Amino acid sequence: MPAVVVIGGQWGDEGKGRVVDLLARKASIVVRYSAGNNAGHTIVNRMGEFALHLVPAGIFYPEKTSIIGNGVVIDPAVLIEEITKLETRGVSTERLRVSDRAHLVMPWHPIIDHADEAMRGAQAVGTTGKGVGPAFTDKVARWGIRMSELADPEGFAERLRMVLDYKNQVLTKLYDLPPLDFDEIFESYRGHWARLAPYVTDTSVICQQALHDGQRILLEGAQGSLLDLDSGTYDYVTSSVPTSMAAGAAIGAGIAPADIDRVIGVYKAYQTRVGNGPMPTELQGAEGDRLREAGREYGTTTGRPRRCGWFDSVAARYTIRLNGCQSISLTRLDVLDEFDLLKVCVAYMVDGRRVDTFPSSSAAVASAQPVYEELPGWQTDTSHCRNFDDLPANAQTYVRRIEELIGAPAALVSVGPERDQAIIVDPIL
Ligand code: GDP
Ligand code: IMO
Ligand code: MG
Repeated sequence: MPAVVVIGGQWGDEGKGRVVDLLARKASIVVRYSAGNNAGHTIVNRMGEFALHLVPAGIFYPEKTSIIGNGVVIDPAVLIEEITKLETRGVSTERLRVSDRAHLVMPWHPIIDHADEAMRGAQAVGTTGKGVGPAFTDKVARWGIRMSELADPEGFAERLRMVLDYKNQVLTKLYDLPPLDFDEIFESYRGHWARLAPYVTDTSVICQQALHDGQRILLEGAQGSLLDLDSGTYDYVTSSVPTSMAAGAAIGAGIAPADIDRVIGVYKAYQTRVGNGPMPTELQGAEGDRLREAGREYGTTTGRPRRCGWFDSVAARYTIRLNGCQSISLTRLDVLDEFDLLKVCVAYMVDGRRVDTFPSSSAAVASAQPVYEELPGWQTDTSHCRNFDDLPANAQTYVRRIEELIGAPAALVSVGPERDQAIIVDPIL
């Protein structure tokens, strides 16, 4: 029973956390394999409402193993806070495991994140400011510090001294900022290690053994494919390598690509984006506000208002094909309950030409005018529907039309944030 990937198909916040929380009951292990605490995954279940930034959404099943894989960059203070909050609310983290190969977010990373954004001025990416981009930059540039290095005080001191010497030059000479203090960082990260050490291990061995034993692994993606470093709207993207695509799941979890047998794309029934960058179906003014308020669309990590717009089937078809999604989870259908008329983007007009593939140039995406198809709304509460046939006819037509346009069936349709507010069309696992 190989691994299944749950991947965001849009610009993040599609509801991956809630989908993983639902599907995890059929898996033995849930792995977060990419990004860092720029992610914010909301889960609403019998235990309450939770916003997770690093811990996988499988943590609510005490008998399952939850893993933070080597592909994640970890801010240890944030992880400790998350673990403490979960424990305080009665959620056991006893079966949480953290990869010894995962890179650390260090104190200079958020500082550089903010300073870089300030330097970009009007072309700021609109990052979450958590230092995740600079942490991945250092990983690639080989200035990164890995979790396992904290175990050895002498080795860590030597490495920290070398990296900090360089970073302090960057902070003082390039950004005109004060230098950071070695002793303070050393002591605080040694303190973090004391708390995290029991969780840290070679998690790829756990995953590989589980697969060998025929167990099912669920790989929890972060962000969305349109934020991917390679395939997204560069340079308005995030920095993981490769972040948000199913191809990154094997690398970030430490398993073989052939171990993945199924990819589920998570898509909102409309479109949102936080931060800057092109978004062809964005609704401005009152229309956008209406969708934002109906969906209470505010970021889980930063609280920023999300930009809202109609479902973009050009972008969705692109990410379905890139990820090889056999099926999708369509979330937040209920948010559209009150609308009398819905629009779906079926193509773009770019430079006076109709295109139905997602342009590689962000400038072209920014200039794209959406070609819309209109569909009637249903103006009926769908939040109680549990079977596809329970949905009003117009809602069924809406889902079917999206499936047709993107070329993948909806295995799951969700009609509310709670675990059971879902229509399982195909059991998936
Ligand atoms: P993630 O980053 O992909 O896990 O998504 P977020 O948690 O950042 O944002 C998704 C939001 O939608 C959260 O507030 C969820 O509780 C909520 N949500 C998920 N599915 C549904 C749904 O079907 N209906 C409604 N109304 N809310 C949902
Ligand atoms: P989840 O997993 C939505 C966006 C930021 C910004 C860009 C770069 O909750 O879906 P970064 O801090 O990563 O350098 O910011 O990426 N971004 C997300 N948007 N959901 C996320 O994660 C995101 N993670 C990063 O808003 O536009
Ligand atoms: Mg989110």
